[in-house]
Amino acid sequence: MIKNRILSGIAPSGDGMLHIGNYLGAVRQFLEFQKKYDCFYFVADLHGLTTIQDKKKMQENVESLVLNYLALGIDPEKSTFYRQSDLTEHTELQSILNNVTPLGLIKRCHAYKDKLQKGVSEENINMGLFCYPILMAADILLYKPDLVPVGKDQKQHVEITRDIASRFNKIFGKVFKLPKAYIPKEVAVIVGTDGKRKMSKSLGNYIGIFESEENIKKQVMGCFTDPKRVHGDEPGRVSGNPVFLYHRLLNENKAEVKDLEERYKKGRVGDVEVKEKLFKAIMKKFGPARERYSVLKKSPDKVRKILKRGAGKAGRIGKKTMREVGEAVGLKNKYSFLG
Ligand code: ADP
Ligand code: TRP
Repeated sequence: MIKNRILSGIAPSGDGMLHIGNYLGAVRQFLEFQKKYDCFYFVADLHGLTTIQDKKKMQENVESLVLNYLALGIDPEKSTFYRQSDLTEHTELQSILNNVTPLGLIKRCHAYKDKLQKGVSEENINMGLFCYPILMAADILLYKPDLVPVGKDQKQHVEITRDIASRFNKIFGKVFKLPKAYIPKEVAVIVGTDGKRKMSKSLGNYIGIFESEENIKKQVMGCFTDPKRVHGDEPGRVSGNPVFLYHRLLNENKAEVKDLEERYKKGRVGDVEVKEKLFKAIMKKFGPARERYSVLKKSPDKVRKILKRGAGKAGRIGKKTMREVGEAVGLKNKYSFLG
């Protein structure tokens, strides 16, 4: 039986350390998928270059992200796990796809449009950022996946990928499969600890996974709850309250969550107790991953081997697709001597 193929990547943005929004919105699904499907997961370091233009920071972010993924349970025995820049095929395919991608299509992308709307001048928008969706299309199409699990913010990029793939197929004959974005509903966008905006590193409204216990405790205790409730003995609102959202999604003790919710609605529990229990639940949930992280950090040889093997596996597929592309567009001819 042929297993469906799943592919996704994460750019090493922020400091490369994942928060619970990334976990719930992305990594958790990756772990479920690897139990059943043929999964490809990679660190999109070339995409990172659009914003990270500092050697040390790039190295640190990529290291953190690789370790985060592995510590959280991406299993290199089950999934193909690699780094985008270890394969030349991603950029090679991008430069071919550039030729079937209309300028207007890319101008309509939010990555670029958002910058313009924020008043950033074109002088300060680099071509890497502008072409971000084309590289992403190459990342995806190279491996012909069926599904691309991403957060809601990436949906447009997957749609553009389909658009680019169908243009290519129409012009040169069918090479690419049209992938579908997979966005699980209940976690589409995890709200931040401010209770207002998407949880994000850059907004400072996140709860970390691998930071010191002290930091995580601070993030949890600083979380927004029900603004209308001033005292713990007043009935509070559970829906739309981020502390309860996180409890429901992360606390494995479901009876405790139910009890806290009921007491909260009746005004029989204070915010502090709810948050302290959330902190404990987070520590319990991510305890084993935190342990794996510190072990992996001390074993660079092991991590290098994992990435090398992943790149080998991905490369075999990428090369095959590039041969098909070369044939389809006519770059391969009777004088070609490369495979
Ligand atoms: P950020 O948005 O914090 O910069 P990234 O863009 O690096 O994070 O996102 C990595 C992955 O995590 C993507 O699949 C993204 O959609 C998902 N993600 C990030 N933040 C959230 C969130 N608050 N809720 C759900 N998913 C998220
Ligand atoms: N743009 C994605 C993000 O910011 C990362 C990414 C790069 C990606 N290439 C991809 C995601 C291909 C899915 C498939 O999270």
